[in-house]
Amino acid sequence: MTSHLQRVLDSFNADLPLERARTIPSAWYFDPEVYALERRRIFANTWQLACRAEQVAGPGQFVTIDIAGEPILVLRDDQGTLRALHNVCRHRAAQVINEPEGKLTKLRCRYHGWTYDLTGRLRGTPEFEGVQEFHKEEQGLPALAVDTWGPFVFVRQGTPRESLGEYLAPFIERTRSMALEKLHFAGRKEYVIDCNWKVFVDNYQDGGYHVNTVHPGLAGALDYSQYRTEIVGIHSVQIAPMKTSSDPTIGKVRSGSHAYYWWIFPNLMVNLYQGMMDTNLVLPVGPDRCKVFFDFYFADVDGESNRKFIADSIAVAHQVQMEDQGVCEEVQRGLKSHSYDSGRFSVKREAGGYHFHRMLARWLRER
Ligand code: FES
Ligand SMILES: [Fe+2]
Repeated sequence: MTSHLQRVLDSFNADLPLERARTIPSAWYFDPEVYALERRRIFANTWQLACRAEQVAGPGQFVTIDIAGEPILVLRDDQGTLRALHNVCRHRAAQVINEPEGKLTKLRCRYHGWTYDLTGRLRGTPEFEGVQEFHKEEQGLPALAVDTWGPFVFVRQGTPRESLGEYLAPFIERTRSMALEKLHFAGRKEYVIDCNWKVFVDNYQDGGYHVNTVHPGLAGALDYSQYRTEIVGIHSVQIAPMKTSSDPTIGKVRSGSHAYYWWIFPNLMVNLYQGMMDTNLVLPVGPDRCKVFFDFYFADVDGESNRKFIADSIAVAHQVQMEDQGVCEEVQRGLKSHSYDSGRFSVKREAGGYHFHRMLARWLRER
C-alpha cells in the first residue's frame, strides 16, 4: 500500500459514536487508488449478485457480467453443474464471451479462436505447435465460487470466508415469511450514473432523510414519522410503514402495511413492497461512474390487469430513480470541491449511512 493510500484510509475514524462521527473523506469517492483497493478488498471479497437462476437453468446457458472491472461468465455445463469462470482468455486476455446472455456448446474466443469447454478447460489452440513449456491443462479459465439463493445466482472471487447462506443469513431469516422465491421476474432497467458507486449507496442509506425533499410523490405513500433503520449484522434494513397516497397511481403500486429497504453489503439493495420486489445492484465502472441494474419481480405476472400494475410500478420506480440520479450526480461534483472534505450524520436518520462507512473501512483495512 502506498503512503498516499495509507494516509487517505487513516483519515476516517470508524470508532466514534454516531453523535461524533464524520463521513468518509471525499477522496474515497474519486481517488483511483481507493478504487483499485475496493476492487480487490471489497468486490473480490464479497458474494456478488451475478444473474438470475432461470437465465442459466439449462446446459450451455450463460450470462456475462462485469463486476468492478472483472469480466465474469456464469454458465451451466453439459453435466448440469452451475459454474462461474473468469471471462478472460488465457492467450491475450480478450473477453472469451462477449454476448450478455445466451446458449452455447463451447466457449470460443473471437480474437484468435482458442476454445474452452463448458467447464473452462482449454481445448483448441490453433497454430500453437512448438510452443515450449506450455501445458494446456494448466491454461483453463480460472473458476470462482458460485451458489444460488431463491431466484439469484451469486459469485465470489477468492476463497469464501463464509457460505452464501451465511452471508445472506439476516436477510433470508427476516424475509422467510414473504416467500420471495415465489415471485416472478418481470423486467430490468439499467442506468449509468456519473457518480461513485458509494454515492448511490449513501443516498439509499440515509434513513428516508431525502424522501420528502427529493421524492414528493413517494413521500405521500410512506409514514415518514415512523420510518426507521435497523442494523442487522453486516446488512441493514429500513422499514417504512405505508399510508394511503393521494396519488392514485402511486397508491395502487406502493401499498401494503410496510415497505422494507434491505441493503446487503456492499452493493445490493432489495426493496420489498406488497406483492413485489425490486433489486438495485450498483456496480462501479471506474472511480466516478457506476451502473445500476433494477430487476423487478412480482407475485402475479399474467393477465391484463397484472401487466398494467407491473408497468405502472416500474414507471414509479423509474421516476424515483430519475430523482435520485439527479442528486447523486450533483453530490459527486460537490465531493470534488476544495471546500468540502467530509460531513456529519443525522443521529435520528443516518445510522445506516455510518454503518456502511464503517463496513467499508473494515474491509479496506483488514481484508
Ligand atoms: S486472446 Fe483469445 S485466442 Fe487470443
Ligand atoms: Fe431516493
